[in-house]
Amino acid sequence: MKKILELLSEEMGKAFEAAGYDKALGRVTVSNRPDLCEYQCNGAMAGAKQYKKAPIAIAGDVAAQLKDSSVFSQVQAVAPGFLNLKLSEAYLLEVIQRMASEPKFGLEMPERRKKIIIDYGGANVAKPLHVGHIRSAVIGESIKRICRYAGHEVIGDVHLGDWGLQMGLVITGLKDRQPDLVYFDESFQGEYPAEAPFTISELEEIYPAASAKSKEDPEYKARAMEATFKLQSGVRGYRALWRHILNVSVEDLKKNYASLNVEFDLWKGESDVHDLIPKMVAYMKDNGYAHLSEGALVVDVKEETDTKEIPPCMILKSDGASLYNTTDLATIMERMEQYDPDEIIYVVDKRQDLYFEQVFRCARKTKLVKPDTQLKFLGFGTMNGADGKPFKTRDGGVMRLENLIRETKEEMFKKIREGREMSEKEALLVADQVAVSALKYGDLSNQASKDYVFDIDRFTSFEGDTGPYILYTIVRIKSILNKYREQGGSLENLRMQPAGNESEKALEMELVQFNTMMQTAAEETAPHKVCGYIYDLANAFNHFYHETRILGEEDAGKKESLIALLVLTKDVLEACIDVLGFEAPDKM
Ligand code: ARG
Repeated sequence: MKKILELLSEEMGKAFEAAGYDKALGRVTVSNRPDLCEYQCNGAMAGAKQYKKAPIAIAGDVAAQLKDSSVFSQVQAVAPGFLNLKLSEAYLLEVIQRMASEPKFGLEMPERRKKIIIDYGGANVAKPLHVGHIRSAVIGESIKRICRYAGHEVIGDVHLGDWGLQMGLVITGLKDRQPDLVYFDESFQGEYPAEAPFTISELEEIYPAASAKSKEDPEYKARAMEATFKLQSGVRGYRALWRHILNVSVEDLKKNYASLNVEFDLWKGESDVHDLIPKMVAYMKDNGYAHLSEGALVVDVKEETDTKEIPPCMILKSDGASLYNTTDLATIMERMEQYDPDEIIYVVDKRQDLYFEQVFRCARKTKLVKPDTQLKFLGFGTMNGADGKPFKTRDGGVMRLENLIRETKEEMFKKIREGREMSEKEALLVADQVAVSALKYGDLSNQASKDYVFDIDRFTSFEGDTGPYILYTIVRIKSILNKYREQGGSLENLRMQPAGNESEKALEMELVQFNTMMQTAAEETAPHKVCGYIYDLANAFNHFYHETRILGEEDAGKKESLIALLVLTKDVLEACIDVLGFEAPDKM
């Protein structure tokens, strides 16, 4: 169905036309003086020149046409020529009822369904997820869900870092610990064991140790680079070992992502395009896109209009090794061949923006993508601690994501247990759901590109602009609906009546903003718009709740109508938290 402002603009346009003016002047916007009116139209001011008439006279003509309007309960022409508007309760009800009866609350589906690949998560194999990874996972997951809800086909790909030096480091670290492993015996011809020779905890110990050592010891680093090279060039034992590292690591990653309600359609990684690289390099050379510079193969990507230096995009190092760029470009090539997407969105730390600028320019220049394929970099800011510096553990170390999630869940468990009648088992479950809402909403309610301060006390609060406050509101509605059912009420085929008081109308006015908001959130890939909306909606609901007798309402028809409004509010809130990637418990 059409968005509320379109419906109102149409109505206003008709009035302009009937009064003898251009109907395009009837554009209605949300009021910027909510104390005076709900909506406004400034068309009379815009038309003054064209019609050589005072704006207030035009506004007066238009207002006269709308004297008996069923849409507006108030149309006021005020100096110097504004039209101040209020919606009639009956019309608002009509819109609300349509919204309640249509799929996705009447959100219009796009004329052309886009195919979108979202590259997010970006975990590195063998390295534990740390807090730096939470933003990509949380924001990417939400954008995936928003775009899907808005009607597009969306494929989420984790794009694992599984092919670089960290793999060589782990292999080298392992070789020093267990030199007798069959994987290092180059004469071995048989089948390698199915079982990995390490656990995830061992793996997580090996990597940081090897990484630290390589920074101090150039000889060790050279060994790790050689191991990386051997792996990439296909040495059997190294490949088999790498498989184990990948499997053990991915199993652990899946567990961690799942605890945040983050799911990927594709678990591909840098390694998946390894075999495509020679083909891509040949293509770039044969078409004259790439040239040698100091032994390395590069593509120039600077443009005349650049105000800062954009270095060439390096495709191969002088020793023939591939780089982060190489796998990203080959991945674009693979994605085009396999999926031919309209759009690829990268949800990555904004400090990689120059890098992606190079990659995108290179992909365009070398025609790896079609001219109309969109490549979007969605760079996010840093999650900081109270000191304004990147978030650390209490002793200054890098915080593992697993620990951050656990600590938030524990904190929430304590809160839930306080003064509530709930079994430990149920409290644990509820604490998990509320904690996820706290973490995700705390992140998503900020514009992604901005840094934000991780403040566990604020995020877990049941009051204010937080995930738990939103859940609390939903739970409150659920409990009223449950009581209504217990009293013999049914939630089917509820009939509605026009709003009975200001707070009820205000709630309905928030509800009808839903499809405008959701469409904008999808177009702008902006989960914070969904957060802003549900915060306003929850506030409008709670205000209404305090002003209105619901279960105590004596007029049965009125009560039924209030219940219908509650159902719609709950459904809209739940659809919104679902696209944000969390869910509400039944009690809390
Ligand atoms: N693994 C990378 C990192 O930790 C992030 C990957 C982002 N995606 C990409 N296509 N480059 O920095």
